[in-house]
Amino acid sequence: MATEVVMALTREGTRGGRFLDATLGLGGHSEALLASRSDARVAGLDQDGESLVRARARLAPFGERFRATRGNFRDACALLAGEAYDGAVMDLGVSSPQLDTAARGFSFQHDAPLDMRMDTENARTAADLVNHAACDELERIFREYGDERRARRIAEAICAERRAVPVRTTLQLAEIVTRAAGGARPWARLHPATRVFMALRMAVNDELGALREGLEAIGTLLAPGARLAVISFHSVEDREVKARFREWKRVGKARVLTPKPLGPGEKETRENPRARSARLRVAEMTGGQFQQPQQGGIHG
Ligand SMILES: C[S@@+](CC[C@H](N)C(=O)[O-])C[C@H]1O[C@@H](n2cnc3c(N)ncnc32)[C@H](O)[C@@H]1O
Repeated sequence: MATEVVMALTREGTRGGRFLDATLGLGGHSEALLASRSDARVAGLDQDGESLVRARARLAPFGERFRATRGNFRDACALLAGEAYDGAVMDLGVSSPQLDTAARGFSFQHDAPLDMRMDTENARTAADLVNHAACDELERIFREYGDERRARRIAEAICAERRAVPVRTTLQLAEIVTRAAGGARPWARLHPATRVFMALRMAVNDELGALREGLEAIGTLLAPGARLAVISFHSVEDREVKARFREWKRVGKARVLTPKPLGPGEKETRENPRARSARLRVAEMTGGQFQQPQQGGIHG
């Protein structure tokens, strides 16, 4: 939804071109923002070192107008201390290269160690969670983050299996889940393990906790009049964004520009089926929240 994001952040009468891309990924949003005006500058943030390498290479032609920092957006205040932005984007979830790289262990399309860490320096992998979390905790994760109806049955099947042998790989887990869910259903739209894998990924990366803290942190880095665009792919995340924006509106911190979330256009959905469930919400800061810079401007 790069077009919608750029339109939201670079509207008529915009004050400046200092942008924060808090989920750099492959750099698509950063590139669109940098191309949108010749004086635009983008600070990119990603917790995944591989994303940074790819995005830096892609955005090298923009020279000093782009710079990238490795880190979690929940730590945005510390990582980008004292800088005020005219707009920010958060495009939540995993990137295509993360999903498609077998060794990252996000997908049951490939057999690989169960990893799922976006930040490979974090200690806890999906295998650690699956083999050591209490059965009740696994059930909660599958139910809350995956909306999985068979959460209890699946959690019990995993706990029974791991008593015999550790669950180490993506295919091993997918098979346990498929059996517990009553077998493969080739006609169904979703593979029986889809929700469990998404839920585990969200737990391994504490995605909801990071979103809560990240919204708060990024809110304090925005200049009055700046806009924040958030794209989520999951109803739990979208609810969190909606609730935070409402709260900001209630306390006079922001205006909500999307009473209902925007979805991708038909063309984007056709070209990228993963975009199907994307939801974009935009808020405009009304002022007063930016904490005074302790040091220089965004790019010195
Ligand atoms: C959907 S992709 C972003 C794609 C990007 N907009 C593009 O155009 O290529 C999400 C990216 O955000 C990163 N990410 C997710 N949660 C994060 C967090 N809490 N802090 C920093 N980066 C995060 C992931 O590592 C991934 O690279």
